[in-house]
Amino acid sequence: MIQVFGSFLDRFLVKESHENELADVNSNVEIFGHYVDQPLRDEHLTLGFSPSRIPMKRRWRNNGLSADFIADYLTTFFPLMEDDPMGKKRHAEIKNVVSYVANELLENAMKYCNLHAQYPITLHLQLENDLVRIFVDNSITPTNAEIFKAYVKNFIASDPMELYIQQLERNAEDDSCNASGLGFLTMVNDYNAKIGWKFRNVQGNSQIVAVTTMVEVVI
Ligand SMILES: Nc1ncnc2c1ncn2[C@@H]1O[C@H](COP(=O)(O)OP(=O)(O)OP(=O)(O)O)[C@@H](O)[C@H]1O
Ligand SMILES: [Mg+2]
Repeated sequence: MIQVFGSFLDRFLVKESHENELADVNSNVEIFGHYVDQPLRDEHLTLGFSPSRIPMKRRWRNNGLSADFIADYLTTFFPLMEDDPMGKKRHAEIKNVVSYVANELLENAMKYCNLHAQYPITLHLQLENDLVRIFVDNSITPTNAEIFKAYVKNFIASDPMELYIQQLERNAEDDSCNASGLGFLTMVNDYNAKIGWKFRNVQGNSQIVAVTTMVEVVI
Protein backbone atom coordinates (compact mmCIF):
# COMPACT_ATOMS: atom_id res chain seq x y z
CA MET A 1 0.00 0.00 0.00
CA ILE A 2 1.31 3.47 -0.88
CA GLN A 3 0.27 6.60 1.03
CA VAL A 4 1.08 10.00 -0.39
CA PHE A 5 0.71 13.32 1.47
CA GLY A 6 1.08 16.92 0.30
CA SER A 7 2.24 17.93 -3.15
CA PHE A 8 4.25 14.88 -4.15
CA LEU A 9 5.69 14.52 -7.64
CA ASP A 10 7.15 11.18 -8.49
CA ARG A 11 8.08 11.80 -12.10
CA PHE A 12 11.77 11.47 -11.32
CA LEU A 13 11.30 7.73 -11.17
CA VAL A 14 10.02 7.46 -14.74
CA LYS A 15 13.26 6.18 -16.24
CA GLU A 16 13.70 3.45 -13.64
CA SER A 17 10.10 2.27 -13.70
CA HIS A 18 10.09 2.13 -17.50
CA GLU A 19 13.04 -0.17 -17.37
CA ASN A 20 11.58 -2.35 -14.63
CA GLU A 21 8.32 -2.73 -16.54
CA LEU A 22 10.28 -3.85 -19.51
CA ALA A 23 12.58 -6.17 -17.68
CA ASP A 24 10.77 -9.23 -19.05
CA VAL A 25 10.77 -7.99 -22.62
CA ASN A 26 14.33 -7.05 -22.18
CA SER A 27 16.24 -10.27 -22.00
CA ASN A 28 19.07 -9.08 -24.21
CA VAL A 29 21.28 -7.38 -21.68
CA GLU A 30 24.96 -7.60 -22.56
CA ILE A 31 27.69 -6.92 -20.04
CA PHE A 32 31.38 -6.35 -20.79
CA GLY A 33 34.38 -5.80 -18.56
CA HIS A 34 34.21 -5.16 -14.84
CA TYR A 35 30.54 -4.26 -14.28
CA VAL A 36 29.13 -4.32 -10.75
CA ASP A 37 25.33 -4.23 -10.75
CA GLN A 38 24.60 -4.46 -7.07
CA PRO A 39 21.75 -3.14 -4.94
CA LEU A 40 22.21 0.25 -3.34
CA ARG A 41 23.18 -0.53 0.21
CA ASP A 42 25.72 2.14 0.87
CA GLU A 43 26.02 5.86 0.16
CA HIS A 44 24.81 6.90 -3.29
CA LEU A 45 23.78 9.91 -5.31
CA THR A 46 22.06 10.27 -8.68
CA LEU A 47 21.98 13.27 -11.04
CA GLY A 48 19.72 13.37 -14.08
CA PHE A 49 20.07 15.48 -17.24
CA SER A 50 16.96 16.00 -19.31
CA PRO A 51 17.32 16.50 -23.07
CA SER A 52 14.32 18.85 -23.10
CA ARG A 53 15.79 21.39 -20.65
CA ILE A 54 19.05 22.27 -22.44
CA PRO A 55 20.10 20.41 -25.59
CA MET A 56 22.75 17.79 -24.79
CA LYS A 57 25.21 19.44 -27.15
CA ARG A 58 25.18 22.67 -25.09
CA ARG A 59 25.93 21.11 -21.74
CA TRP A 60 29.71 21.34 -21.67
CA ARG A 61 29.89 23.81 -18.77
CA ASN A 62 27.35 21.76 -16.82
CA ASN A 63 29.53 18.68 -17.14
CA GLY A 64 32.44 20.36 -15.39
CA LEU A 65 30.17 21.75 -12.67
CA SER A 66 28.50 18.39 -12.06
CA ALA A 67 31.82 16.56 -12.00
CA ASP A 68 33.32 19.06 -9.53
CA PHE A 69 30.18 18.89 -7.40
CA ILE A 70 30.25 15.13 -6.97
CA ALA A 71 34.00 15.19 -6.32
CA ASP A 72 33.53 17.80 -3.57
CA TYR A 73 30.52 15.92 -2.19
CA LEU A 74 32.56 12.73 -1.84
CA THR A 75 35.31 14.39 0.17
CA THR A 76 32.76 15.14 2.94
CA PHE A 77 32.85 11.42 3.78
CA PHE A 78 36.54 11.71 4.62
CA PRO A 79 36.62 14.37 7.33
CA LEU A 80 39.80 16.37 7.80
CA MET A 81 41.51 16.81 11.15
CA GLU A 82 43.13 20.15 11.84
CA ASP A 83 46.66 20.38 10.49
CA ASP A 84 46.30 17.17 8.57
CA PRO A 85 48.53 17.39 5.48
CA MET A 86 47.97 13.71 4.58
CA GLY A 87 44.20 14.18 4.80
CA LYS A 88 44.41 17.26 2.58
CA LYS A 89 46.54 15.39 0.09
CA ARG A 90 43.97 12.57 0.06
CA HIS A 91 41.12 15.04 -0.49
CA ALA A 92 42.98 16.52 -3.43
CA GLU A 93 43.57 13.05 -4.92
CA ILE A 94 39.91 12.06 -4.49
CA LYS A 95 38.75 15.28 -6.12
CA ASN A 96 41.18 14.85 -8.97
CA VAL A 97 40.21 11.28 -9.88
CA VAL A 98 36.47 11.63 -9.30
CA SER A 99 36.09 14.88 -11.21
CA TYR A 100 38.21 13.53 -14.08
CA VAL A 101 36.19 10.30 -14.41
CA ALA A 102 32.79 11.97 -13.96
CA ASN A 103 33.63 14.67 -16.49
CA GLU A 104 34.90 12.18 -19.10
CA LEU A 105 31.85 9.95 -18.70
CA LEU A 106 29.43 12.85 -18.94
CA GLU A 107 31.22 14.23 -22.00
CA ASN A 108 31.00 10.83 -23.68
CA ALA A 109 27.32 10.46 -22.82
CA MET A 110 26.49 13.90 -24.22
CA LYS A 111 28.71 13.47 -27.30
CA TYR A 112 27.64 9.97 -28.33
CA CYS A 113 24.01 9.70 -27.16
CA ASN A 114 21.14 9.19 -29.57
CA LEU A 115 19.81 12.74 -29.80
CA HIS A 116 16.50 11.59 -31.30
CA ALA A 117 15.66 9.27 -28.43
CA GLN A 118 14.79 12.01 -25.90
CA TYR A 119 16.28 9.71 -23.29
CA PRO A 120 17.68 11.35 -20.15
CA ILE A 121 21.31 10.90 -19.16
CA THR A 122 21.91 9.87 -15.58
CA LEU A 123 25.02 9.88 -13.46
CA HIS A 124 24.98 7.64 -10.45
CA LEU A 125 27.64 7.59 -7.78
CA GLN A 126 28.17 4.81 -5.24
CA LEU A 127 30.58 4.79 -2.33
CA GLU A 128 31.39 1.45 -0.77
CA ASN A 129 34.25 1.41 1.74
CA ASP A 130 37.19 2.79 -0.23
CA LEU A 131 35.62 2.08 -3.63
CA VAL A 132 33.87 4.69 -5.69
CA ARG A 133 31.74 3.63 -8.62
CA ILE A 134 30.45 6.10 -11.16
CA PHE A 135 27.75 4.93 -13.57
CA VAL A 136 26.65 7.06 -16.51
CA ASP A 137 23.70 5.91 -18.58
CA ASN A 138 22.76 7.18 -22.03
CA SER A 139 20.91 6.11 -25.15
CA ILE A 140 22.73 5.12 -28.31
CA THR A 141 21.58 4.16 -31.79
CA PRO A 142 21.61 0.40 -32.53
CA THR A 143 24.30 0.92 -35.18
CA ASN A 144 26.53 2.88 -32.83
CA ALA A 145 25.90 0.32 -30.10
CA GLU A 146 27.40 -2.38 -32.31
CA ILE A 147 30.43 -0.17 -33.09
CA PHE A 148 30.85 0.62 -29.39
CA LYS A 149 30.60 -3.08 -28.41
CA ALA A 150 33.36 -3.92 -30.90
CA TYR A 151 35.48 -1.10 -29.43
CA VAL A 152 34.85 -2.37 -25.90
CA LYS A 153 35.71 -6.00 -26.76
CA ASN A 154 39.02 -4.91 -28.24
CA PHE A 155 39.66 -2.61 -25.27
CA ILE A 156 39.15 -5.42 -22.76
CA ALA A 157 41.30 -7.87 -24.71
CA SER A 158 44.25 -5.48 -25.16
CA ASP A 159 47.07 -4.14 -23.08
CA PRO A 160 45.97 -0.62 -22.10
CA MET A 161 49.45 0.89 -22.36
CA GLU A 162 49.96 -0.52 -25.86
CA LEU A 163 46.54 0.75 -26.91
CA TYR A 164 47.40 4.17 -25.50
CA ILE A 165 50.59 4.37 -27.57
CA GLN A 166 48.78 3.18 -30.72
CA GLN A 167 46.12 5.80 -30.15
CA LEU A 168 48.71 8.58 -29.69
CA GLU A 169 50.31 7.54 -32.99
CA ARG A 170 46.93 7.54 -34.72
CA ASN A 171 46.15 10.99 -33.35
CA ALA A 172 49.52 12.32 -34.55
CA GLU A 173 48.73 11.11 -38.10
CA ASP A 174 45.18 12.46 -38.17
CA ASP A 175 44.63 15.95 -36.82
CA SER A 176 41.16 16.29 -38.35
CA CYS A 177 39.66 14.06 -35.69
CA ASN A 178 37.85 15.79 -32.80
CA ALA A 179 37.80 12.77 -30.44
CA SER A 180 41.24 11.76 -29.24
CA GLY A 181 40.21 8.27 -28.07
CA LEU A 182 42.15 8.64 -24.83
CA GLY A 183 39.36 9.01 -22.23
CA PHE A 184 38.98 5.38 -21.08
CA LEU A 185 42.66 4.63 -21.61
CA THR A 186 43.70 7.50 -19.33
CA MET A 187 41.30 6.27 -16.62
CA VAL A 188 42.90 2.82 -16.69
CA ASN A 189 46.54 3.84 -17.16
CA ASP A 190 46.68 6.90 -14.89
CA TYR A 191 44.05 6.12 -12.27
CA ASN A 192 44.01 2.30 -12.17
CA ALA A 193 40.30 2.38 -12.93
CA LYS A 194 38.27 -0.72 -13.70
CA ILE A 195 35.62 -0.22 -16.36
CA GLY A 196 32.49 -2.14 -17.32
CA TRP A 197 29.62 -1.60 -19.75
CA LYS A 198 26.01 -2.76 -19.82
CA PHE A 199 23.97 -2.56 -23.03
CA ARG A 200 20.22 -3.19 -23.17
CA ASN A 201 17.13 -2.39 -25.22
CA VAL A 202 14.72 0.02 -23.57
CA GLN A 203 11.14 1.14 -24.04
CA GLY A 204 10.18 -2.19 -25.51
CA ASN A 205 11.64 -1.30 -28.85
CA SER A 206 14.88 -2.44 -30.30
CA GLN A 207 15.51 1.00 -31.80
CA ILE A 208 16.62 2.51 -28.51
CA VAL A 209 19.60 0.96 -26.86
CA ALA A 210 20.87 2.22 -23.52
CA VAL A 211 24.44 1.84 -22.40
CA THR A 212 25.67 2.26 -18.86
CA THR A 213 29.38 2.78 -18.41
CA MET A 214 30.65 1.99 -14.94
CA VAL A 215 34.04 3.12 -13.67
CA GLU A 216 35.38 1.90 -10.35
CA VAL A 217 38.32 3.50 -8.59
CA VAL A 218 39.93 2.93 -5.24
CA ILE A 219 40.21 6.15 -3.23
N1 LIG B 1 28.63 6.83 -23.47
C1 LIG B 1 28.96 6.42 -24.70
N2 LIG B 1 27.98 6.15 -25.59
C2 LIG B 1 28.32 5.73 -26.83
N3 LIG B 1 29.58 5.55 -27.29
C3 LIG B 1 30.58 5.82 -26.45
C4 LIG B 1 30.31 6.26 -25.12
N4 LIG B 1 31.48 6.45 -24.49
C5 LIG B 1 32.44 6.15 -25.38
N5 LIG B 1 31.91 5.78 -26.56
C6 LIG B 1 32.70 5.31 -27.74
O1 LIG B 1 33.96 4.85 -27.25
C7 LIG B 1 35.04 5.57 -27.85
C8 LIG B 1 36.16 5.79 -26.84
O2 LIG B 1 35.77 6.73 -25.84
P1 LIG B 1 36.90 7.59 -25.09
O3 LIG B 1 36.22 8.47 -24.10
O4 LIG B 1 37.96 6.68 -24.59
O5 LIG B 1 37.57 8.47 -26.23
P2 LIG B 1 36.94 9.68 -27.09
O6 LIG B 1 35.66 10.16 -26.47
O7 LIG B 1 36.89 9.21 -28.51
O8 LIG B 1 38.06 10.81 -26.98
P3 LIG B 1 38.46 11.68 -25.69
O9 LIG B 1 37.68 11.17 -24.50
O10 LIG B 1 39.92 11.46 -25.53
O11 LIG B 1 38.08 13.07 -26.06
C9 LIG B 1 34.40 6.85 -28.37
O12 LIG B 1 35.10 7.36 -29.49
C10 LIG B 1 32.98 6.42 -28.73
O13 LIG B 1 32.98 5.83 -30.02
MG1 LIG C 1 35.70 10.60 -24.33
